[in-house]
This record gives sequence, C-alpha cells and structure tokens, in this order.
Amino acid sequence: MNIELVHLKRSYERYRNEIDQAVLRVLASGTYVLGEEVKLFEEEFATFCGAKQCVGVASGTDALLLSLKALGISKDDEVITVANSFVSTATTISMLGAVPVFVDVDERTCNLDAKKLEEKITFRTKAIVLVHLYGQPADMHPIIAIAKKHNLRIVEDACQAHGARYHGKSAGTLGDIAAFSFFPSKNLGGYGDGGAVVTDDPKLAEKVRMYRTYGSKQRDHYITWGVNSRLDTIQAAILRVKLRHLPSWIEKRRELTVRYTALLSGSSVKVLDVISGAESACHLFVIRSKKRDALQAFLKEKGVSTGIHYPVPIHMQPIYTELGYAKGSVPVTEMLATEILSLPLCPELLDEELAYVVKSIKDFEL
Ligand SMILES: Cc1ncc(COP(=O)(O)O)c(C=O)c1O
Repeated sequence: MNIELVHLKRSYERYRNEIDQAVLRVLASGTYVLGEEVKLFEEEFATFCGAKQCVGVASGTDALLLSLKALGISKDDEVITVANSFVSTATTISMLGAVPVFVDVDERTCNLDAKKLEEKITFRTKAIVLVHLYGQPADMHPIIAIAKKHNLRIVEDACQAHGARYHGKSAGTLGDIAAFSFFPSKNLGGYGDGGAVVTDDPKLAEKVRMYRTYGSKQRDHYITWGVNSRLDTIQAAILRVKLRHLPSWIEKRRELTVRYTALLSGSSVKVLDVISGAESACHLFVIRSKKRDALQAFLKEKGVSTGIHYPVPIHMQPIYTELGYAKGSVPVTEMLATEILSLPLCPELLDEELAYVVKSIKDFEL
C-alpha cells in the first residue's frame, strides 16, 4: 500500500481532459495576465461563497496581507489571532508592522476559543484574524458579538474552508473580509499558487484590486501602496473547471469523514468535535493520540502518509522569539501540537484505502 495524504495526481488523471482544454484555451487566447478567465473565476467564486466581491490574488498569504492592508492595519496595531495555523496567518500581520497577539483555542475543535478572546483586547487592538481550521468554521456568533462590542474588524482565514458553512452562511461571508488559498492540496486547488479575497464591501474590494496591481487603477498612475499579486490566468482557468466539481468533492469528503469517525469510534484515538450549526468543508481529517509520533512512524511503515498541521505553534517559531511568549503561555495550542495527526483525505481516497488506514491504527494499538 502507498496511501498519500492527498492524491493530487489521481485527481488530475480523472479530470485531465477538462483541465488540459482550459490550459490550452488560455495559451491560445494571447491574454496571460488577468483577462476574462480571472474575471469570470472571480464572479463564479463570489457566487459560490454567496459574497458580493471576489478579487483573485497570487496566494492565500497575499490574500491575508492585502485584506489586512485594506482594513487599514498598520504599525503598532495589535491583531488577535491563533497560533495553531499556517505561519502566514500571523506573519502577514507582522509584515504591516502590526503585532500578532495569540489567543488559545478550544481543544475539542482546535478553533479559536471565544471565551478567551476578550482578555486579549487592549486599546491597540484593531482586528481579529480567525481561522476556520481543517475546514470547520470557527464559532462565529460569540466572536462577532465581542468584535462589535469593541469595534474590531474580522478577517476570516478561510484558506482551508472553501464550502464550509456556519448557520447556513458560507465561510468567507462571516466577517468583514476573507482570505482563500488555492494551493494545490486545498479543497479547491490549482496547479500552482493562487488565492482570493472575498468580501461584501465594494470599498475594501476596490482597495485590494489596487494593491494587487502596484497600487494602481489605471496604467502609469500609482495612487497607493501596492505589490504585484494577481491570480495567474492559467490557474484561474483551471480553478473554473474545478469549481464546478467542488460541491460534489466536498460531499465526498464529508462521507469519508463520517466513515472514518464511525470506524474509529471505540479506538484510543480521539476525533475532533463539530460545533452545532457548523457544516465543515472537511479539508483535513485530524485525530488526536497521546502516542502521536510512534503512531505516525508505524503508519509510515505501513505505507500510510500522514501530516501534522501544525507541529510548532506560531508563537514558538524563531520569528516570534522577540515577542517573548514563554513555553506554556498558549497551553491548549501547545498540547494539541503534540497530539494531532492528519490522516489521508481527498475525494479520490478509495474505500479500501480508508479501511486500511483504520485497520493500521487499530493494529498499532494491539
Ligand atoms: C490556514 C492557512 N492560512 C494561510 C495559508 C497560506 O496560503 P498560501 O500557501 O496559498 O499562501 C494556508 C495554506 O497554506 C493555510 O492553510
């Protein structure tokens, strides 16, 4: 057996004709930057999310950076976020000269613990960047209530949550502005880097559009801060093909997640809780084990690839030594980092592969 965490090549083989045609269409069109494909993808992805605006950018990292910039985050502002995420959830805050402040998470879901949010707010706090980790929406109602009370803006890091819903509303429409990644292994992934900013606010979207093209609306007129961060035209054409399949892929991910959960019940590993009102996009299937490292090594021997999302909490990364977080200062996050393990999950995972992964976990326990 050789079971990958995500079978990317298997997915390409299945949709090869449609994808190749889309790529060839761009090559033949003569438009290689922005153009119709990017515009149509933006409209289609906005519709998918139920949002008014979508701006395609070069990566999820840039989507976060440009979202924060559009909200006016700047030097010495504080932005509250979580430490159990991909590093750019926090580094994009730092890139603008602001300071990430790490709040702990709920061990049952691995998402931001709203009960711990208010104690982190100071007179410098301007925004919250929350993550819908592993595809499960964060518990937004209490977070939104606290943000309103303290006049804070909300950025959703929805890089893992394409298609997730919270009380019927899609990830990407739950805060002021949202960042998506189209990194190849995401629920909606290109064949290269890509990202998008989603918002209902046309003013924020207009700012992001300027920032992604050197700070301009019009050639040779540079009116604001800017970078070069456009969603690549070939990626947009590929993403348009994949977006049509995304609802069925998410359904498949949900089915596989239900099956994993049922087959693992009664074993020594824990699965995460899903909060009421949440429909997870089931991006990753994460279990917890007290013997995580030994289990991961055992599974590797059995031909099962696994992942750890994420082994080192962001506040413990060398870049943030200067912030002075002592060991134990974000305790639940630090504990989870030693226990979490992501099992193979993608729409192409076969039933017999899933059964083999579960059997291998049970064999480890014997
Ligand atoms: C939660 C989260 N935030 C941010 C990112 C950054 O996205 P990208 O790799 O497209 O820059 C990722 C993906 O890697 C992610 O999973």
